[in-house]
Amino acid sequence: MSKPQVDQGRRTWVAIACGAGAVGGVATAVPFVSSFQPSERARAAGAAVEVDISDLKPGEKKTVEWRGKPVWIIRRTPEMLASLKKTDALVADPKSERKPDEITPMPDTRNEYRSIKPDVLVVVGICSHLGCSPSDRFTPGAQPSLPDDWQGGFLCPCHGSTFDLAGRVYKNKPAPDNLEVPPYTFLADNKLLIGEAKKA
Ligand code: FES
Repeated sequence: MSKPQVDQGRRTWVAIACGAGAVGGVATAVPFVSSFQPSERARAAGAAVEVDISDLKPGEKKTVEWRGKPVWIIRRTPEMLASLKKTDALVADPKSERKPDEITPMPDTRNEYRSIKPDVLVVVGICSHLGCSPSDRFTPGAQPSLPDDWQGGFLCPCHGSTFDLAGRVYKNKPAPDNLEVPPYTFLADNKLLIGEAKKA
């Protein structure tokens, strides 16, 4: 496993080579960015990104890029939502109270699901330890590198931090914080705008 390389200023997720899934990101990321058309450049710089989630089935995940970061959108099943009751006592910051302005900036996501709508989770897929991108481990139960009573969530391959299905970090792991919930708005039932919170 190679050492994670993190650009502390920008936390470039694609430049992380510690997980099998991320290998190769370095080589492809730079040419991709430099070939952006003007609108794509604006998007990379921080413009909000519209996402259609009408094809996202329960239990599935979609990844979009916002500000050079992977944003995961997961349509959680009732079972996935129920698992959060079980992980409540096992996670380090169950109520998203730590660094709220940075990690969970929208007040309407500081709830038990960490989301505006219970079933739709939106989080930045970057580990709060050294910036690796965790892997999906949605299937509950015993499996390599995870506890026997695993409830489903994410495993960071770099140093073993685990997160539940609301992106809450488990206790006593290297990662200090939950996965970040970015600002977002529902433009329609199945249309999200990532990067902009609803104006009051
Ligand atoms: S980067 Fe170290 S546990 Fe995720």
